[in-house]
Amino acid sequence: MPATRTTILYATFDLLESDRFPMPATAIPQLSSCGHALDLTEASFGYVRSSADCLNDTAELRRRLEDDGYLYIPGFFDRALIQAARASVCDRLAAAGVLDPAYPSIDGIARAGVSSNFNAEPARHNAAIQRVVYGPELLGFYANLFGEPVRHFDYTWFRALSRGQGSTPHCDLVYMGRGTHQLLTCWIPYGDTPIEAGGVMLLEGSHRQSERIKHYLEIDVDAYCENRPKEVDKVLNRGGWSHPGFLSKNPVTLRTKLGGRWLTAPEWRMGDFITFGMHLVHGGLDNQTDRLRISTDTRYQRASQPIDERWIGDEPIANTRAGKRGRVC
Ligand SMILES: [Fe+2]
Repeated sequence: MPATRTTILYATFDLLESDRFPMPATAIPQLSSCGHALDLTEASFGYVRSSADCLNDTAELRRRLEDDGYLYIPGFFDRALIQAARASVCDRLAAAGVLDPAYPSIDGIARAGVSSNFNAEPARHNAAIQRVVYGPELLGFYANLFGEPVRHFDYTWFRALSRGQGSTPHCDLVYMGRGTHQLLTCWIPYGDTPIEAGGVMLLEGSHRQSERIKHYLEIDVDAYCENRPKEVDKVLNRGGWSHPGFLSKNPVTLRTKLGGRWLTAPEWRMGDFITFGMHLVHGGLDNQTDRLRISTDTRYQRASQPIDERWIGDEPIANTRAGKRGRVC
């Protein structure tokens, strides 16, 4: 990253850091998640803290990850890398008929009536996306943070969310807990995303609430009870799930129960990423625009630790039947 660019970005961070609420909640549109209007008062809603100021201070990064449960690093990537990845996935989305042909595909405007959300295909075997998520910059960041060689899951989660509802609140552990639990998720936006287009949101301090939600955290969404014939049939024969994976369908009441604020960024920009652990409750804001909100989420861990077998290899088994695991309940 060129020094001049870093200097400029850090100056911006200083401005943001001097005011944890750079944009009064009253100045932004009503936000919702899963169709529920969020309480945007200062006690219930806020913005993530930038850690770009300590990118070269590993001890401080570790402290903040421990304290906050996440690290938000705006301006980390060269925007040209993100733009190239965006162009690539937009071309694939256009070819799949997801985009309005009246606009350039790079604009990512959804075709009327098309509903789009999670779909791994646009990012699958995609060199421009892989350059970002498994490139030397991000792997170097994690090797530094973990303090030893790292590896990543080979499966790349990709979302191009059309106008509509974001993800229900959940912890990632229930989807990927068969290896080490010292695993970090990285969420990356591929487009400058105004707050009304949504993005990931984190429940402040929820990484310290594991005891309260311990029964939820014990879930493995690909496990099933082999002594329950209906569940066996649903999971093995009909492609169903033994558990849908969410902690709640209502982020508003969940926040009231667990405390903390829902945190997001005033605007996600190309070049930003945010990383967090398996126990942090998070979800997605609803997209209130016709522009697709494009993002990936990927995972990184110490190479020396066990890895979840569902998410590795050229063709990860993911949540298919091969990933299901029976047990006596
Ligand atoms: Fe997640």
